[in-house]
Amino acid sequence: MDSPYIAVARADEIQPGKFVKVVIEGRPYVVANADGRYYAVEDNCSHEDYPLSFGCLDGDRIKCSLHGSRFSLATGEPQDEPADAPIRTYRLAVEDGRIWIDPGSPAN
Ligand code: FES
Repeated sequence: MDSPYIAVARADEIQPGKFVKVVIEGRPYVVANADGRYYAVEDNCSHEDYPLSFGCLDGDRIKCSLHGSRFSLATGEPQDEPADAPIRTYRLAVEDGRIWIDPGSPAN
């Protein structure tokens, strides 16, 4: 895999319905497996700058544990109040059994 992608985990380390937090150059990201599809999003709720990694997955959404807003892992769009702004999503690829993300180019 060519730059700018960075290997962040082995794909088989993240089971369906689970996620991991990874830190790249001091920035935290959530890498999630929603029913076999992988996603990378920023580890920060757009409502009050709270770590989304404290929350949980709900299908293909991640739920903030502070006030309950859920965000689409695919688009970053909030699905519930009180959040009204999207979170960043990142390009991700699976190759050679590893998960790679492009942290420099938010997909939204
Ligand atoms: S901080 Fe996440 S919903 Fe309020």
